[in-house]
Amino acid sequence: MTEESVKSALSKVMYPGFTKDIVTFGFVKDIVVNGDDVSFTVDITSSAPEVSQQIKDEATAELMREGAENITCNIKAPVMPRESSSKGKNIAPQVKNFLMVSSGKGGVGKSTTSVNIAISLAKQGLKVGLLDADIYGPNIPRMMGLGDVKPEVNGNKVLPLKAYGIEVMSMGSLMEDGQSLIWRGAMIMKAIEQFLRDIMWSELDIMVIDMPPGTGDAQLTLAQSVPVTVGLTVTTPQGVSLDDSRRSLDMFKKLNIPIAGIIENMSGFIAPDTGVEYDIFGKGTSQPMADEFDTKIIAEVPLEPSIRTGGDEGKPIAFVNPTSESAKRYATAAASIWASVEEINANGGVDNQSVQPTTPPGVSACSTGSAAPQSSGGGCGCS
Ligand SMILES: Nc1ncnc2c1ncn2[C@@H]1O[C@H](COP(=O)(O)OP(=O)(O)OP(=O)(O)O)[C@@H](O)[C@H]1O
Ligand SMILES: [Mg+2]
Repeated sequence: MTEESVKSALSKVMYPGFTKDIVTFGFVKDIVVNGDDVSFTVDITSSAPEVSQQIKDEATAELMREGAENITCNIKAPVMPRESSSKGKNIAPQVKNFLMVSSGKGGVGKSTTSVNIAISLAKQGLKVGLLDADIYGPNIPRMMGLGDVKPEVNGNKVLPLKAYGIEVMSMGSLMEDGQSLIWRGAMIMKAIEQFLRDIMWSELDIMVIDMPPGTGDAQLTLAQSVPVTVGLTVTTPQGVSLDDSRRSLDMFKKLNIPIAGIIENMSGFIAPDTGVEYDIFGKGTSQPMADEFDTKIIAEVPLEPSIRTGGDEGKPIAFVNPTSESAKRYATAAASIWASVEEINANGGVDNQSVQPTTPPGVSACSTGSAAPQSSGGGCGCS
């Protein structure tokens, strides 16, 4: 066999559903011929397994007809979009899964974690969005190197920004520098809804949402607007942070959001010169809290100077220094989060029906039960 005879045989294989063959489409790459042994790659655009199989079967048959013996056909296909089985209200239906990143207190590394987890998820081949819902202190644009970038407006919709393979939006990108707003309850609700509805997010496997610290209107509005698949709590090892983190975990429980785990940030210190890890604030101190909420610590991320400089300079460690210890721990945490998402979806997904405001303004709880008259009361508590 020669490269030419391989190409000629493969040009008889039509791309399923089209009248053009895989060679003409330019899908065939890396042909290696060794006597009658042939290997090649077909780089296709469909994620459907039956398309890959048909190409493999037909290519093998054509090559065998020409005398090839050991045939290795590698199919390179995009990752299949993962469906969510979640139910209830979703004002951003093109987003399959939502990860709420929360902490009881400010400054524990929520935004740093959101950025590096989002990048680590994208590196797993997922389509990822990163929404900075911290309307009080939007830091994500700077951390993603998008500090001066303004989004494009298309009619009454805004296009998300893009960095490191991720779609990003933040109040910081929509406000002028130094501008600040005083947020009241109704404005917070409106801002969160607009972020989800009026930004032209693509079809995303998962949206990572960096929340303001604490538990308040923003968290409740988010949970009511989209079915949040999993929650992640970021804490530091000190006792005072743990007390606040408990509130964040308790909030997930009250909002019926499954907990993907806890990230213990600033857990130990890695000296940049020697790489030796020191215990500063304590390590593993969040384990009893994890046990209490039936969850686990999915990463202990050390204090590492390059995490801070990466944030300040818009060069996240998970992207620019993937072999660092911290980047590896973010990658492990991201894999664990995605495993939780898949497990939750396999078990029927989440439903945010139970956290919806029970009645529209001016309507009593009982009158809403009329849609299902046979079930007296309909869960409104007045049967
Ligand atoms: N593991 C770490 N090692 C070194 N520096 C870190 C680490 N985690 C976070 N930092 C730094 O600590 C500061 C606070 O982190 P970050 O802004 O992510 O916290 P936050 O919880 O989002 O804060 P806020 O509540 O103000 O939004 C930042 O300067 C960040 O670069
Ligand atoms: Mg922050």
